[in-house]
Amino acid sequence: MTSFTRTHIHFHASVVPGWPKHVYVLITFLILINGSQDVSAQSPKVVSSYGAINQDVSFEQIKASRMAVKSERAGKHLAVLNARYDLEKRRDSAILMSGGKPIPVGPTARLQGITWEHLNTLTPEQIKEQGLFPYKPLPFADHAEGGMLFPPMITNALPRLVRFDLDFDLPEYILPDPVPAIYLTTRPDLGDVAKGRLITIDNYYAIFNGLLNPKQLEGLRLLVTQFPQQQFNATEDRRTDRPSLGVACFDCHANGHGNGANHLVGDIRPQEFRHRIETPTLRGVNIQRLFGSQRALKTVEDFTEFEQRAAYFDGDPCMATKKGVNVLERGSQVHFMAEFMALLDFPPAPELNIYGELDSTKASPNALRGEVLFNGKARCNACHMPPYYTDNSMHDLKAERFYKQEMVNSMMMAHDGSIKTFPLRGIKDSPPYLHDGRCFTLEDTVEYFNLIQQLHLSPEEKTDLVAFMRCL
Ligand code: HEC
Ligand code: HEC
Repeated sequence: MTSFTRTHIHFHASVVPGWPKHVYVLITFLILINGSQDVSAQSPKVVSSYGAINQDVSFEQIKASRMAVKSERAGKHLAVLNARYDLEKRRDSAILMSGGKPIPVGPTARLQGITWEHLNTLTPEQIKEQGLFPYKPLPFADHAEGGMLFPPMITNALPRLVRFDLDFDLPEYILPDPVPAIYLTTRPDLGDVAKGRLITIDNYYAIFNGLLNPKQLEGLRLLVTQFPQQQFNATEDRRTDRPSLGVACFDCHANGHGNGANHLVGDIRPQEFRHRIETPTLRGVNIQRLFGSQRALKTVEDFTEFEQRAAYFDGDPCMATKKGVNVLERGSQVHFMAEFMALLDFPPAPELNIYGELDSTKASPNALRGEVLFNGKARCNACHMPPYYTDNSMHDLKAERFYKQEMVNSMMMAHDGSIKTFPLRGIKDSPPYLHDGRCFTLEDTVEYFNLIQQLHLSPEEKTDLVAFMRCL
């Protein structure tokens, strides 16, 4: 009855001058019928921004319901991956990442009954109409579920990172070095200071004591210390068999770089619109001005605070409180962590001169031709300019010109929006590429931008661009 009283009062308050009386009578009648019906039976189910905090089920029940769908969802995701990509292992053993792993070679994208040459001649509208775009947004391994997901190369070393409900989806040969090199801006004379060791709470002190100042050493300690997170915590709503102390920053940013660990961006609702996000490297954060692929936080300090308080819990502070958020103190912890991160240098690039351009006495003819294209016909330098190959800005590449908005395995193939121009210094160390990892190799990124910018590059030009990026 409350609803009736409210609409009735509202009606009198909004009498429109000049309307005949019977119109009001009719409207009142319609409102009355409407108001007298059961509201709950009519209204659609509410899509809440919040996660369920007050679980009335046990850990065993939650686990059972996740296990009931595990293999079916994994199968569906694998089917999408296999339809979109040729996952056969192809690598170039002559070109190594700085930690020694051969780089993957592509393009890995599978074309749907068309050649790259033919695709090069089609307009964005034709590609969209015929469903031919090879680089649609990449869904998370179980998009409806989400959460942090770690590759076997880190879960083998740190079994505490295994989720019972979800297996990692991408093959290891398209991921970064399992134990990335670490270069310090303060001690370039030392070269790689990690020397094949994965930095954890167990060894960080012995390795870095005497190399860092005490403030930086404390920052590093916090970067390798576990703190609770959405899937890794002590509550019934966790995705590890045993209650977990949480995750450490370096579980994903392994040795200050990345390892292919991924999750869903925290700041979009509903779930199907959230983007899969690949762990970016922390090398070179000292020369960058924007952090996070989409939200563009202004400092490393802000991102460090945000990462644990918000991203760890899908941007849900109620959930964070329940599962045990660790609030970092800005002056004595956040700054220390940020100071250590700002020491992480890009890997050496011996073919670059002091302007960050190729030294013509050292670089190969292919790479030199690629550089001319990069700064000329291909216009890559409009956004990626030397020396670090970023403009420290964001761009909307409007990839959705090429595909229809539709659901694929619980993910909406929707707009990316403005995304940060990631630096290309050291880029051969960081597959898979783009914010969601949809391009598995450098060759794929060239095919991607060839379409996005409508460049109509020849096969030779594409090879030259890749040769150039391998030198960065
Ligand atoms: C899932 C593993 C994961 C963990 C754990 C993690 N990160 Fe990240 N980190 C990411 C991803 C994914 C992004 C990209 C976020 C985006 O695109 O919005 C990111 C982005 C960042 C960035 C911005 C980098 C850039 O180039 O814009 C910084 C800085 C950062 N993380 C620091 C941290 C710190 C500090 C911690 C620990 C408190 C941490 N991360 C823990 C995965 C992780
Ligand atoms: C209009 C600006 C713009 C132009 C032009 C441009 N890029 Fe980019 N580039 C970006 C943005 C923005 C991203 C991040 C996109 C994303 O993550 O979805 C990016 C990402 C990349 C990446 C992946 C970086 C990573 O860390 O994952 C590579 C490689 C790359 N660009 C190469 C190129 C090449 C080669 C060209 C020229 C053929 C080019 N770009 C032209 C803006 C641009």
